[in-house]
Amino acid sequence: MATLPQQTLSTTLGANLVYLNGKFMQPDQATISPFDRGFIFGDGVYEVIPVFGGRLFRLSNHLQRLQDSLKAIELANPLSLDQWRKVLQRLVDETGGGDQYVYLQVTRGVAQRNHAFPKDVPPTVFAYVQTKPFLEESAEQSGVAVITANDIRWQRCDIKSVSLLGAVMLRQLAERAGAIEAILLRDGLVTEGAATNVFLVIDGTLITPPKGRLILTGITRDLVLEIAREHGIAVQERDVREAELASASEVWITSSTNEIKPVGTINGAAVGNGRPGPVFKRVYGLYQNYKQAVREGKAE
Ligand code: PDD
Repeated sequence: MATLPQQTLSTTLGANLVYLNGKFMQPDQATISPFDRGFIFGDGVYEVIPVFGGRLFRLSNHLQRLQDSLKAIELANPLSLDQWRKVLQRLVDETGGGDQYVYLQVTRGVAQRNHAFPKDVPPTVFAYVQTKPFLEESAEQSGVAVITANDIRWQRCDIKSVSLLGAVMLRQLAERAGAIEAILLRDGLVTEGAATNVFLVIDGTLITPPKGRLILTGITRDLVLEIAREHGIAVQERDVREAELASASEVWITSSTNEIKPVGTINGAAVGNGRPGPVFKRVYGLYQNYKQAVREGKAE
């Protein structure tokens, strides 16, 4: 099997240590069969977990969501919570701590190609650490450009599935339009971004679409809601109509890799005055304080 030179792969991935099926190894030693159902069917789930000051951010929440995704696809969790913690923390520690991301993926393993689940096949378990920056530079000082698009994905967006073709195509659509994200619309309602959750501010109230099968419940989304409620900011989890995007004074996108980003334009039209608004600035500051508490070991 062709392998990239160690240096090339490490540089490309920003990773020099990976975990695969119970072992820690260099990236070029990590090989997976082409018959893996992750490759053949996209039959697997994943998580992206930020690391601040060498500490895994909201790890319990990420591991709970992983458990929920695995349960939804009827795959037993291959590791206990304690084992996950140890594996991920070792990856972080041995790659220098600091600020980075952990990516983990569990697939239904290697089997003859047949859509229905194979019996008695061990799952494939993979994790690696990626040093920042993962995506775009921070945009807290200026708003980012987004477009709207038809939500062409399936009806189980609550599962953090590695079958991401819909998201891939939608992000590409955004990039071609000079935007960083596509805000998705289904039956006239806003669901989420291709790989982010969406928030609006209307009359000072922070609004985001409700949990359910049509969105991924973002860990960042939940933390933003938690922080806002704690600090007396009015919050609503409710259906958001497409037209409300145009009347909102602020629109944000959130994710583990984007944190909280203010949207400056939607399909080229300015949101509010096109600059980050007061509610964004307040919540962004509180979010940064929370990150600092994680760095100091005072929060998870
Ligand atoms: N994506 N919605 C979708 C469809 C996502 O893919 C993501 C995250 C989110 C935000 O979730 P969180 O706040 O837990 O990161 C919402 C990750 C970062 C990715 O695919 O890289």
